[in-house]
Amino acid sequence: MLKEPHIIKFDKIGSSQLGFITVAEYPQNMPFEVKRVYWTYYTPQDVTRGGHAHKELQQIIFAVSGTIEFTTEDKEGKKATFILDEPSKGLYIPKLIWRDIKFSHNAVLLCLASEEYSETDYFRNYEDFKAW
Ligand code: TYD
Repeated sequence: MLKEPHIIKFDKIGSSQLGFITVAEYPQNMPFEVKRVYWTYYTPQDVTRGGHAHKELQQIIFAVSGTIEFTTEDKEGKKATFILDEPSKGLYIPKLIWRDIKFSHNAVLLCLASEEYSETDYFRNYEDFKAW
């Protein structure tokens, strides 16, 4: 189950009258302990980010605002597209998944990461990733 990217639907606590809160808590509703959190913002709409894969890192990614589209590919060439258009939807990305990311205007991406930042954990070259 955890080998493929997939959407995790987190609970929305609250109401449309009062607003909502969503919680990611290990091990209740997420599969790894979080060592790092980062967020990206002010990404122009015509830019594609990502363009890499990770050797060990697992991530859960939210669009806390706006809409974010992920295109993923595993080492065997299996591709998928995921649309994050609701703050309670998380995209689980296991290790060894190439991803490209597109953003709507004003989208804010929040990432919960299983490891500390390490540039040596990245494949930034697609051919290196496929050949590894
Ligand atoms: P990168 O992971 O390539 O971003 P994206 O997938 O959104 O295109 O990171 C962009 C830059 O930020 C790169 O120079 C590395 C740096 N960075 C850190 O220093 N620490 C971090 O935790 C992350 C995620 C990136």
